[in-house]
Amino acid sequence: MKIRNAIRAGGLALAVIGTVAYSSGALAAEAKCKKPTTFKLAFNQTEAHPQFKAAVEFGKRLLAATSGCYTIKGYANETLGTQAAVVNNVADGSVDMAYLGGPVMESMNPDAIVFNLPYVFDSYEAQQAVFTDDSIVGEFKDSMIANKHIKVLALVYAGTRNVYTKKAVRNPADLTGQKIRVQQSDSQVKMIQLMGAVATPMGQGDVYSALQTGTLDGAENNETVFDALKHDEVAKFYNYTQHLMIPDYLIMNSDVLAKMPEADRKALLGLVPEIAKLANEGFYKEYIPVSIEAAKKKGATFVTDVDVAAFKAAVTPLVKESINNPVRQKLYDAVQAANAKFAKK
Ligand code: GCU
Repeated sequence: MKIRNAIRAGGLALAVIGTVAYSSGALAAEAKCKKPTTFKLAFNQTEAHPQFKAAVEFGKRLLAATSGCYTIKGYANETLGTQAAVVNNVADGSVDMAYLGGPVMESMNPDAIVFNLPYVFDSYEAQQAVFTDDSIVGEFKDSMIANKHIKVLALVYAGTRNVYTKKAVRNPADLTGQKIRVQQSDSQVKMIQLMGAVATPMGQGDVYSALQTGTLDGAENNETVFDALKHDEVAKFYNYTQHLMIPDYLIMNSDVLAKMPEADRKALLGLVPEIAKLANEGFYKEYIPVSIEAAKKKGATFVTDVDVAAFKAAVTPLVKESINNPVRQKLYDAVQAANAKFAKK
């Protein structure tokens, strides 16, 4: 009992210290800025998602680091529009920041396709090694500033994507005639066609009702979307095709970033690695296992005996035809080197 009380008291003390530190930052802030500039961050999933939680944390830490001058407010559940719309809004500055799925980034820089190809990354470790190394991705992160006014702050983990449907899928023939939702890009359309299905690109917010009405037979995504967006209620077979491990991007309008006073801009950029880490680890270590358990409880079946080699062979032409310029080749080679480095012996 005593121990519990001591822990409680300790917790209280910490909370008080936290409040004092926070409010003294806010007081200093009041001296510097009358009220904070709030950046709008668009998000197409729920508030429970680790990327959203990391964005909330980003806002808090930015407020403290800029003495109350800047903060961030996340808008979840596609309230600011589909990602295909939002990326244009970030480009024109009407939305300041967003998390964006890899395929949608292809509309801004087609070379983004390299990271969106099926079976391109072998492991989380290899992917992280590439995403956090600016000698590999630095140029790409700045490649859209001049023409599109988009700065990539970070490439973050977005799970492994698998096909889910109303019946079990073990090989490409099982997908014949099935209408499968993909993200809005040519690479994703070609990929799912090569995997044997009929491609239906659409924004994420429409998928649930399309599955319900039969406009779709299935979709492909990570376990968290399968569960959190309740797709597991209407397409109960989650089949481990393991076809994609692609990034989400944390992006910002580059003019908005450039207009910040230098110290505040540096503070924002300095926070990015820790925010990306929060998003990645919350997703990889916690959110996925929780989602799998929740989906199982709702009666979903996870199909593990999938002929991954057959799917991989089917999509090889897309990989080959997409690595068709020196920029892509360099990125692709770096990915392969990281795969080799982290290969399980
Ligand atoms: C995942 C991914 C999102 C993407 C979504 C989709 O949730 O993290 O960035 O938009 O899938 O399939 O649309």
